[in-house]
Amino acid sequence: MLRSLLLSAALAFPLGAAAQTLDVNLGKPGAPIQPTMYGIFFEDINYAADGGLYAELVKNRSFEFPQDALQGWKAFGRVEVRDDGPFHRNPHYVRLQDPGHPHKWTGLDNEGFFGIGLKGGESYRFSVWARVPEGGSASLRVEFVNTASDGEQQFTVQEHITVASREWKQYEVVMRAAQTDPKATLRIFLESRGTAVDLEHVSLFPTDTWMGHRNGMRKDLAQALADLHPGVFRFPGGCIVEGTDLATRYNWKNTVGPVENRPINENRWEYTFPHRFFPDYFQSGGLGFFEFFQLSEEIGAEPLPILSCGLACQFQNDDQAAHVPVSELDPYIQDALDLIEFANGGTDTEWGALRAEMGHPAPFGLKFIGIGNEQWGPEYPERLEPFVKALRAAHPEIRIVGSSGPDSEGEQFDYLWPEMRRLGADLVDEHFYRPYEWFLSQGARYDGYDRKGPKVFAGEYACHARGRKRNHFYASLLEAAFMTGLERNADIVHMATYAPLFAHVEGWQWRPDLIWYDNLRSMRSASWYVQALYSEFRGGRVLRATADGTPLCGAEGQNGLFASAVLDGDRVYVKVVNTSAEARPLTLRFSGLKKGASVSPAECVRFTSDRLYEDNTLDAPTQIAPVRGAFSAPVLTPAEWLAAEAARTGAPARKPTRAELRSADRIVDVTVAPYAFDIYVFTL
Ligand code: AHR
Repeated sequence: MLRSLLLSAALAFPLGAAAQTLDVNLGKPGAPIQPTMYGIFFEDINYAADGGLYAELVKNRSFEFPQDALQGWKAFGRVEVRDDGPFHRNPHYVRLQDPGHPHKWTGLDNEGFFGIGLKGGESYRFSVWARVPEGGSASLRVEFVNTASDGEQQFTVQEHITVASREWKQYEVVMRAAQTDPKATLRIFLESRGTAVDLEHVSLFPTDTWMGHRNGMRKDLAQALADLHPGVFRFPGGCIVEGTDLATRYNWKNTVGPVENRPINENRWEYTFPHRFFPDYFQSGGLGFFEFFQLSEEIGAEPLPILSCGLACQFQNDDQAAHVPVSELDPYIQDALDLIEFANGGTDTEWGALRAEMGHPAPFGLKFIGIGNEQWGPEYPERLEPFVKALRAAHPEIRIVGSSGPDSEGEQFDYLWPEMRRLGADLVDEHFYRPYEWFLSQGARYDGYDRKGPKVFAGEYACHARGRKRNHFYASLLEAAFMTGLERNADIVHMATYAPLFAHVEGWQWRPDLIWYDNLRSMRSASWYVQALYSEFRGGRVLRATADGTPLCGAEGQNGLFASAVLDGDRVYVKVVNTSAEARPLTLRFSGLKKGASVSPAECVRFTSDRLYEDNTLDAPTQIAPVRGAFSAPVLTPAEWLAAEAARTGAPARKPTRAELRSADRIVDVTVAPYAFDIYVFTL
């Protein structure tokens, strides 16, 4: 995946080029970089959960879609929808009866999410809750069908299930896909005659899920998260937390316990954009809060749940009556307290016991909770306040995340930050989906922030080019440039998560996104690589890195360069982003080295592309990827460097001044390629 690169000294310093200087002080390492610094933001937008990360392949598996209980299904013969099923929060099921003629058939097809993706040779677990209501025995034939086939038969695999109990029971059969088909259909025939059979919660999962969980995640997508080594995992959104109305807000209690009894919820993104409309977009709740916590643990990220503060999405509700009155917030506050119990409580508590029942007796170790998503106006702090009081009283150990609204600056932002300070929020969630110019101008954004107040959680951000919404390399480069400012300010910026995370190529509402996929393949965008590099080279402590005494942050006269540096044990990572079209010579001057010590170039990682407005694709998933390899360049003392300069320019040789000796123990010249994000790794 990562091609190799050898940066030679000759390439590193073209003759005659005037270099800029970056002074890196190794003597006084600064703030620690939080383990939570680079994380991920999950929201069920763009078919990120059902049809995406959640590996269930059957759409509307419980026959609960509200407009049409058979949405996603094609019924044939005598199929009746009934509503007195075994799972009280999902009461609908289907009754399949004898079609009434020997040459007719009864059954159902499921279309999946944009089809059902099957991989030839892989196993899939079909399961169904069933009974024969009047006794006797009925036989079902389950098939994978290629409806586009012009062969003698459409089915590619057939299996049989016998149902012989009047009581509801779960039946299952493992089916091996005979061929790869991104858009298969699942077909169920009532094979036997005479006896009616009832079916509920019809499910199909690959057996090979992430970590092998039965109610599991799609492996390639979960792996793409794990490979980011995220420090924090924010879920379940985004606006989805708030809902288009309060009735459809994300209610975590509906997403725990047996999957069969988790009620579906209308997805807030079903109706949001009529120009990209998805009338069958619901949340099964199968990827619920237990699964989010479990996944956080498995990928090594701190879980960060965000809960409703009683405000329905403010973009969609001008009427104050749409929100919960402050005096009636108690159930919402209780939800937050109960969530902490679910995550951390003993198994002798109500919610801790449920966690144990679901397979995780040990606490999940929740440390953070967010109250409200992208809220604004006085209606937000007045609702947040009682949450803060209750949470502080019951759980002083939990850190609370508040919001600064939907804008990166402006009236609401300026109003909310002091309010968050007043309420004592531990972190403030900032959102910025902004164009090129914004990212280019924000390298020093956090340099002047008040160090005494709450910390920053850059909770949703992405570079959105005007008129060019598709993911592309140049946007990711500007994200990398901006992130040097996050890193330099790690004393105040404690978390940052790009958003959104996932998008199905046939089901997106919003772009750009970090990871794209169809039913079988996935692609990590250029922005994904930027996130992955920051995470891999996060380091432990910030190092002061300046050009003429100020940060290199794309400011006037800095030639489009951005830089930051960190210490990681005995390694130093210098990150430099060149947002210009010109190669930029850069002199790295290291000071603060112990007597007799030096720096040794170890590795250079370069992320660049001459296809500025392109990204990876499902067909070419790594065409834009970092190149890494050995990095060799002379490491010079100031005297040696001056001598080399004199030789290069023909100027008379001279000795370094005292000031020059103070400012550098060792000097290394590099050249940053046009439009490149370079990480220079040195060992001490
Ligand atoms: O990430 C998409 C949306 O952007 C989120 O749901 C919301 O918080 C923001 O407006």
